[in-house]
Amino acid sequence: MEIKKICCIGAGYVGGPTMSVIAQQCPHIQVTVVDLNQERIAAWNDSNLENLPIYEPGLSDVVKEARGRNLFFSTEIEKAIHEADTIFISVNTPTKTYGKGKGLAADLKWIELCARQIAKVSTTDKIIVEKSTLPVRTASTIKDILKHTGNGVNFQILSNPEFLAEGTAVQDLLKPDRVLIGGDQSEKGKEAIQALVEVYERWIPRERVLTTNLWSSELSKLTANAFLAQRVSSINSLSELCERTEADISEVSRAIGTDSRIGPKFLKASVGFGGSCFQKDILNLVYICRTYGLTEVAEYWEQVIKINDHQKRRFATQIITNLYNTVNAKKITFLGWAFKKDTNDTRESAAIYVADHLLFEKAKLSVYDPKVTEQQMLADLDYLNTRSAQENQELVTVEQDPYEACEDSHAIAVLTEWDEFKDYDWQRIYDKMLKPAHIFDGRNILDKEQLEKIGFKVFSIGS
Ligand code: NAD
Ligand code: UGA
Repeated sequence: MEIKKICCIGAGYVGGPTMSVIAQQCPHIQVTVVDLNQERIAAWNDSNLENLPIYEPGLSDVVKEARGRNLFFSTEIEKAIHEADTIFISVNTPTKTYGKGKGLAADLKWIELCARQIAKVSTTDKIIVEKSTLPVRTASTIKDILKHTGNGVNFQILSNPEFLAEGTAVQDLLKPDRVLIGGDQSEKGKEAIQALVEVYERWIPRERVLTTNLWSSELSKLTANAFLAQRVSSINSLSELCERTEADISEVSRAIGTDSRIGPKFLKASVGFGGSCFQKDILNLVYICRTYGLTEVAEYWEQVIKINDHQKRRFATQIITNLYNTVNAKKITFLGWAFKKDTNDTRESAAIYVADHLLFEKAKLSVYDPKVTEQQMLADLDYLNTRSAQENQELVTVEQDPYEACEDSHAIAVLTEWDEFKDYDWQRIYDKMLKPAHIFDGRNILDKEQLEKIGFKVFSIGS
């Protein structure tokens, strides 16, 4: 079989960029991305490409090329499902906030809704592709729902997890280390796998498209994120030891990263990892292990999250301690709010938790981020439910200009590694700050020596 019409349910950080690249690379395939969120779909259709709902370097060019040709964004979900031969499910799978597995398990409510909707409107055979990150064995749930509620239609389920990282999504999609496709090992299952392989083969060398059984593919996605996050927690845990021993974490990273068995990537000490997935996926892994009674395995992975929480808390405490144990009514400037550079995504960003900690101590925050809106920052704080929205609004000011954000500040904290921070006129900033002027570099991106020469008191992670 040949894939000709794709419907992707979910026009988020994964669905949007992934489908844009498939449409760009495969002009013969019609790709329709659907979402319940009308505002999001309207933004994807906005004639001004600056207004796309997601900021990703290079994305607007891809959308410009394919949109209206073979790439469409729509809220007509049932119509798109009905017409498609292949349906990607790319909806959110957040941590459950209620009931059994609260705070650990993935909430599969939206996945199940998709499966039921697909079953309801399908009249022709379809391939269903799990693009969302899912607990191992979810495909069996989807299969069961489709089998019992469908109209006698034949569905093949594939697992095709996404490994893109935000901020580099387009490059990751164009040149992935690998694409993973898991499917049923029956003849029909293998045919479906082959059909999807042929889509990716249009621009990705065949040897980079790995195929496995369904369960290995589902579990590999959680495993990949757990391994990546574990590297960050490992290096962050040792950053604390460096601070006590005059070792320097950047030197340690370089020293171990040159061992080809360890490798240099993902060894950058930081204020803690953020993003919508690392924490959620590890918690989910922990929950799955517990469900199978694997207590030791669950505890092993749980430690990655504990160290990350500790690192965020430690950073906030360091600010308070160095500001003579009180930040009450002191202006502290945050440079960066996004969970990493080159994205407007703030989900689980370390900045939110560090801010919350300082707000407990009644600090006054002034925040600048080149891509995150004021509305988003306040919504992030309100979501924690630790104080009223009005209090958050009173204590936090969001600035459009970084120099204004730093004026009359006691301290600057770098929360995101945006490149532009390195090139600021730091003398100009210093001149307008209260003295002693402190900088807490949560990303180790600034030139410590130069800043100290100007007169700043500089604190970096792990040295
Ligand atoms: P997102 O929240 O940005 O997007 C999900 C979208 O799905 C939302 O716009 C929502 O309105 C829509 N949706 C939910 N239920 C729907 C339904 N029944 N019908 C139509 N639309 C519906 O989420 P995301 O960041 O794109 O993540 C999606 C999945 O991909 C998650 O499982 C995540 O773990 C995984 N993932 C994310 C990333 C990433 O970088 N963000 C990378 C790899 C994998
Ligand atoms: C991560 C994975 O890298 C992707 O492969 C995966 O597809 C995705 O999660 C997902 O499933 O959602 P992402 O969260 O977008 O991608 O970004 P990363 O580059 O992995 O960064 C995650 C966090 O770790 C960021 O806060 C980043 O600043 C931090 N980090 C990363 C460090 O603190 N140090 C490092 O060395 C690397």
